[in-house]
Amino acid sequence: MDFSSFSKKPYVITVACTKGGSAKSTNAANIGAFCADHGLKTLLIDTDTQPTLSSYYALTEEAPGGIYEFLSHRDVDPSHIISKTAISNLDLIQSNDPSNNVSPMLRNAPDGAIRFSHLLKSINHYDVIIVDTRGTRDITVDMSVLAADVLFCPILPHILSAKEFIRGTIGMYQDLQTFESFGFKLPPLKAIANCVDNTNDVKFVLNQLNVLFETNFDESKTFLNFSIPAHVAYREAATYALPVYRHNRNEYPVIKELCCLLFPQFKTLFEQSPGEKR
Ligand SMILES: Nc1ncnc2c1ncn2[C@@H]1O[C@H](COP(=O)(O)OP(=O)(O)OP(=O)(O)O)[C@@H](O)[C@H]1O
Ligand SMILES: [Mg+2]
Repeated sequence: MDFSSFSKKPYVITVACTKGGSAKSTNAANIGAFCADHGLKTLLIDTDTQPTLSSYYALTEEAPGGIYEFLSHRDVDPSHIISKTAISNLDLIQSNDPSNNVSPMLRNAPDGAIRFSHLLKSINHYDVIIVDTRGTRDITVDMSVLAADVLFCPILPHILSAKEFIRGTIGMYQDLQTFESFGFKLPPLKAIANCVDNTNDVKFVLNQLNVLFETNFDESKTFLNFSIPAHVAYREAATYALPVYRHNRNEYPVIKELCCLLFPQFKTLFEQSPGEKR
């Protein structure tokens, strides 16, 4: 695979939480568009067998292939797997594995969990790569975490979701620490509460999560002091295939703050309005 026209290494962010429906794909779509709108060449990669992120934005050029060919054919041409979305600077490797052939293929391969990291190294003409994952533990989630520079975990502030996050997502992160003996550095984990409302129950769960992160986890795991509100605008924006901040300008400061926390190296760029992008 030859992506060699640029020499810089893209910044890879993986969005993962082993609890389904925690707004992973919604966040991937919004932060991807925000980066692209600020002039960053951005690639979305959908590794979930349910192609929610793949179907979020309209496509202006649809590649015949997608994640299946990326992971299974080593010499695939980029134009065969990278689609263009209707948002400038925002491309997509679609999920095209509805029968879940990729996971058993990777489980049976000697390089299964690390192949994705190696393949991503050949993609160097993007500033940012955003990887969306499925809402349950799987080798495709493991590989996406191992390939990331930062792991972004959206959590729903409900007690059962929080318990599943600790059991599933933190458990996965701890299991993957085995790879550190083989030279892999796990990405820092940044968790953010999503769909937050003003109920006492949500306040209680947020407080419990804060205490847990402060007392039980080391500095590799942070529960960010920022949350994304529960607003119908997020669902409406998906209906209209728009980034939420284009659908409703009230959400612009939310996504901007989120992107500044996740990509501090681009903070100055994000402080400019999209019209002033570099
Ligand atoms: N901030 C928000 N406020 C209200 N609704 C939201 C918000 N963010 C996402 N949603 C809605 O929550 C639902 C689940 O979101 P999404 O599909 O992004 O979750 P997911 O974690 O990707 O799910 P899965 O685990 O199935 O992949 C969607 O209907 C989405 O529109
Ligand atoms: Mg999803």
